[in-house]
Amino acid sequence: VKTITNICCIGAGYVGGPTMAVIAQKCPHIKVTVVDVNEQRIADWNDADLNKLPIYEPGLADVVAEARGRNLFFSTDVDQAIDEAQMIFISVNTPTKTYGVGKGMAADLKYIELCARQIAKVSKDDKIIVEKSTLPVRTAEALSTILNSTGNGANFDILSSPEFLAEGTAISDLQKPDRILIGGDETEKGQSAIKSLVAVYENWVPRENIITTRVWSSELSKLTANAFLAQRVSSINAISALCEKTGADVDEISRAIGADSRIGSKFLKSSVGFGGSCFQKDILNLVYLCRHFNLPEVADYWEQVIKMNDYQKHRFAKNIIDTLFNTVSGKKIAFLGWAFKKDTNDTRESAAIYVAKELLEDRAEIHIYDPKVSKEQIFADLKSVCHPEGSEATKDLFKNVIVHKDPYTAMQSAHAIAILTEWDEFKTYDWNKVYDEMLKPAFLFDGRNVVSNEELEKIGFQVYNIGKG
Ligand code: NAD
Ligand code: UDX
Repeated sequence: VKTITNICCIGAGYVGGPTMAVIAQKCPHIKVTVVDVNEQRIADWNDADLNKLPIYEPGLADVVAEARGRNLFFSTDVDQAIDEAQMIFISVNTPTKTYGVGKGMAADLKYIELCARQIAKVSKDDKIIVEKSTLPVRTAEALSTILNSTGNGANFDILSSPEFLAEGTAISDLQKPDRILIGGDETEKGQSAIKSLVAVYENWVPRENIITTRVWSSELSKLTANAFLAQRVSSINAISALCEKTGADVDEISRAIGADSRIGSKFLKSSVGFGGSCFQKDILNLVYLCRHFNLPEVADYWEQVIKMNDYQKHRFAKNIIDTLFNTVSGKKIAFLGWAFKKDTNDTRESAAIYVAKELLEDRAEIHIYDPKVSKEQIFADLKSVCHPEGSEATKDLFKNVIVHKDPYTAMQSAHAIAILTEWDEFKTYDWNKVYDEMLKPAFLFDGRNVVSNEELEKIGFQVYNIGKG
């Protein structure tokens, strides 16, 4: 069994960066080099000012401060890091394909393939390759074909070790994971590679929390885990619609059913809809795989999780328009939150983007405040869904979107407030002041059920919640 003292990670994103920072923190005897083709990203990871790290995660800056320059390095020299490493993690992005076969459904594996070709080209000695990115089942086979058909003489063992961290809690998830999953070949070589990676994690994770499986099971476990988690959110969101019609309260229902130990209390928070870079992409990928293997019933079953999520986002936007007397044209709507969940600056697939699009199409003027998301990011997100050069309705996009640094100016003279992210600071605002400065009736649509209804209604707000009849 090879003892690992030098690790390279390709991809310095939301997964590669925090994961390697924690491995370096917990294993001071291992040199960890994180590489990326994105020069700006690497420069940001190396910035002396820890507030400039490319990712916002609670606790991340402290871990980077401890390990960076000691045994944690960020670099754009991909070849050198590959050459020196005994173990290479691949943490590059695997977005939904936007072209050709499988467009809109399948995972785009071009970045993975590029990594494999580069590793094959550069490597002079044997290496263990770890799939950290989320991949369709049987990708390891394709990787192996590319890696082992180059004839450099180097030998590669491929492991699958999907990452289960959630953004916003990445550091604590990495430091105290529920489990680490490692899949490898059943051959002696494969088992020995598994042991090398187990030994890395054993520096801080109890052995009984490290699950080892066959490669295909590990790959498919990741898609399955995300599909189950997203399904819980869509299930409770489906019930929220029924609650609104019947007068039941979805939070009371979550508490009541969550007390059943078979169901469990987590991930039952009804919301404006799930976002994030993973859930939708991974379910689409799962649906695509099922269709590929001619399992249309299974594909349809999982696809419904996404349809329900689209419905939830649409329902929220439509309720705002309906309540504001059937049009938001020329009306000022304040958005609190743009990130897809609290404690992250990530906005990928955030529900806010889709709600904003629908309101802009009805010609609203949207004033946005998010504590961690930049103005540039917000406009980039909107551009990706609304094509300003296209339809009449979105032509005035940039004129009708104003990003604020101060939540109070965002809400001043607004016709309505919409809460899109559950940032804790929203609970601490001076809601009396907000009310006084708003147009009346003062509508508030809480897409996360974060602020206290009774308190706000006492002030005079007309509050609309998800799942409260
Ligand atoms: P990301 O886009 O934040 O980071 C990926 C990085 O890889 C980018 O910085 C990109 O420049 C770099 N890259 C791409 N091709 C490269 C190449 N050939 N050489 C060097 N660098 C290259 O993505 P992410 O959110 O970190 O996700 C990475 C993978 O992890 C995905 O497969 C995702 O599904 C999975 N995942 C993500 C999360 C999450 O919470 N974001 C959680 C678990 C798993
Ligand atoms: C998810 C998985 O949780 C993680 O294991 C995987 O590695 C990556 O994908 P992430 O997308 O970062 O993590 O965050 P998560 O906490 O799962 O939230 C996803 C979305 O679901 C967010 O928009 C969140 O607001 C929403 N959500 C979550 C709900 O609406 N209700 C809930 O009860 C839980």
